[in-house]
Amino acid sequence: MLTLGIESSCDETGIALYDSERGLLADTLYSQVALHAEYGGVVPELASRDHLRKTIPLIRECLQQGGKTLADIDGIAVTEGPGLIGALLVGTSIAHGLAHALKIPVIGVHHMEGHLLAPMLEESPPKFPFVALLVSGGHTMLIEVQGVGSYKLLGETLDDAAGEAFDKTAKLLGLSYPGGPALAKLAKTGDTNRYRFPRPMTDRPGLDFSFSGLKTHTRTLWQREQTGTAEDETIKADIAAGFQHAVAQTLLIKCRRALQQTSCKRLVIAGGVGANQMLRDTLLSEADKKGWQVHYPRPTFCTDNGAMIAYVGNLRLSTGEVSADGIRGRPRWPLDELQPPAVQF
Ligand code: KG4
Ligand code: ZN
Repeated sequence: MLTLGIESSCDETGIALYDSERGLLADTLYSQVALHAEYGGVVPELASRDHLRKTIPLIRECLQQGGKTLADIDGIAVTEGPGLIGALLVGTSIAHGLAHALKIPVIGVHHMEGHLLAPMLEESPPKFPFVALLVSGGHTMLIEVQGVGSYKLLGETLDDAAGEAFDKTAKLLGLSYPGGPALAKLAKTGDTNRYRFPRPMTDRPGLDFSFSGLKTHTRTLWQREQTGTAEDETIKADIAAGFQHAVAQTLLIKCRRALQQTSCKRLVIAGGVGANQMLRDTLLSEADKKGWQVHYPRPTFCTDNGAMIAYVGNLRLSTGEVSADGIRGRPRWPLDELQPPAVQF
């Protein structure tokens, strides 16, 4: 079965082709970063309009890359939520229109299920069960994954998501949008130990997170420390390094706890913040010590992409599952509402 995947939930248009036998055939991405950069964040209406401009040309490009035509597609997978409603509706409208014209099934995919299962696209995919740390711009969750569609929420953020904390902290320090990668780059030149940052919510039991305090801590620190001289660049880099270290350590503490609680030794890191090298190194070195297995998708499959949507859609469509209730977007869609497909993998 050949599935066309469409992702348009935020500021990236991602299109991919996934074949049940041959795997990922083509994967194309258009990032709107430059469009939103001057506003310092995603402008929803601009995002929708850009998805509208880019989706169809990108589908053509993807088909060409995969050596396929529209007539070869057996099903369409589209991100139905969570995300920006206007952006989602562009993807779902195009998907439903195409499916109707081609007389093929369409399925709405949960964006976070896409992130969760993205490591399955790699050469050595994780085996079930595993604990997943989902860290993106909108979510920070620890999930016990028994199989496809069987997701038990162990903990989540009570305020800002990890990616959001990166983005807001970067903005505070005057870094360019998107803040996460910019802050990570600056942190490479900084001294991790110069400033001590808190490890929020690690001194009490449980697996929930809170990141808004780290942002406030950074604001106060930066206001107090800045000198108005060239020395500020070093101070900024040291603050970035301290902040990044605190986020990585906090996530590590909670992952350790989640693995202990579930008696599981397999950890999957997914979502945009999973592209952060310090987080990857921190978890890998702990895994070495503790005998865990840690799985990451490649960095381009950590951030939004069409491949993860095509993969999940292909999996569900091939069990006969379809979305029968027409075009819609679900800006809010709890992950644990998902059901396992009729056939388990
Ligand atoms: O998963 P994603 O592409 O989109 C959402 O579904 O939210 O995640 C985007 C988030 C942004 O907050 C971005 O700043 C963050 O992931 N991010 C990073 C890095 N790359 C992306 N954060 C820290 N370090 C990175 N290298
Ligand atoms: Zn995402």
